[in-house]
Amino acid sequence: EKEGYDHFMLKEIHEQPKGIYETLNRRLDDNGMIKLDGISLTKEELDRFNKVYIVACGTAYHAGLVGKFVIEKLAKIPVEIDVASEFRYRDPFVDDKTLFIAISQSGETLDTLAALREAKNKGARILSIVNVVGSSVARESDDVFYTWAGPEIAVASTKAYTTQLVCLYLIALYMGYTKGVVEDATYHKYIEELKAVPDKLREVLAQEEQIRNIAKELYKREQVFFIGRGLDSGVSYEGSLKLKEISYINSFAIAAGELKHGTIALIEQDTLVIALATQDRLFEKMLSNIQEVKARGAYVIGLAKENNREIEKQSNRVIYIPECMDEITPLLSVVPLQILAYDIAKLRGCDIDKPKNLAKSVTVE
Ligand code: M6R
Repeated sequence: EKEGYDHFMLKEIHEQPKGIYETLNRRLDDNGMIKLDGISLTKEELDRFNKVYIVACGTAYHAGLVGKFVIEKLAKIPVEIDVASEFRYRDPFVDDKTLFIAISQSGETLDTLAALREAKNKGARILSIVNVVGSSVARESDDVFYTWAGPEIAVASTKAYTTQLVCLYLIALYMGYTKGVVEDATYHKYIEELKAVPDKLREVLAQEEQIRNIAKELYKREQVFFIGRGLDSGVSYEGSLKLKEISYINSFAIAAGELKHGTIALIEQDTLVIALATQDRLFEKMLSNIQEVKARGAYVIGLAKENNREIEKQSNRVIYIPECMDEITPLLSVVPLQILAYDIAKLRGCDIDKPKNLAKSVTVE
């Protein structure tokens, strides 16, 4: 059932344009308006919530980092985010004015489920983003926003992440529009941008060969740093997790502006740095961060939108993604990082679909 691919992970990477299309289209009517189909989020309810709490583990948590950014930006409501294993033991401030969003591909992650129960006991409304229909998280939530990724078999999560992002964009847009804080033009601009993602993603996937060549240069490394600002910092964490879990390379992600507060001490001649610079708004700032590591001898792989060629001057290699609005870049920028992790793990002879010490769903504490 790998349909000609060597591994489920690669097959699932390639299924992302379809997963994104399905997740989006099942929630949009012909006029581009979001259909909630039974999910209860009326204007009165939305006005009553004074906080959103996003809780998840691993890759789903990384999707949540993007969710926090877009919900705060579009729905103008504070969003807290935590990993489930911390949230559940912390006596978090949650009450009946909290909208609690649990994110889980499997819907069976024990810590996420326990966090959800904790939030429910405190009176929060539970909305979950889940891939597996009828799973425990889905059953115990007030409402479920399903991802339409199809079954994800590889331990390393790929299409679950991008489809979770689509759900979060739709939730953020719906909340903002319903509350009256997102204008028509902005709403439709986002919808158009989201609709264009599957085709743009096919363009990214078409660069596989070029990414493989970069992997050939890098696969013997034992240490990698991922850096980025804004949404790119969230995607850096995901790129770093992907690489470490399947290739066993010691990989570390950090918000680029934090480098100089300690981590830059580790950058020396030939240290590998993967620098995400997809945010137009933060591009110049990122170029200075790249310069900082370059000045200490780092070997830099840059990732930018295709019009931001200036990055070539500061980087040893560059991977481009198609032009799009800053807010939706994670849907595109994560994919070269997934491919890079896959190719590096393959060149290292790792068991990609079943990495050591890991299970597809973590149902133990
Ligand atoms: O099924 P879930 O989305 O709840 O799983 C959460 C994490 O265990 C999962 O994303 C894990 O981090 C993956 N191995 C990442 O690739």
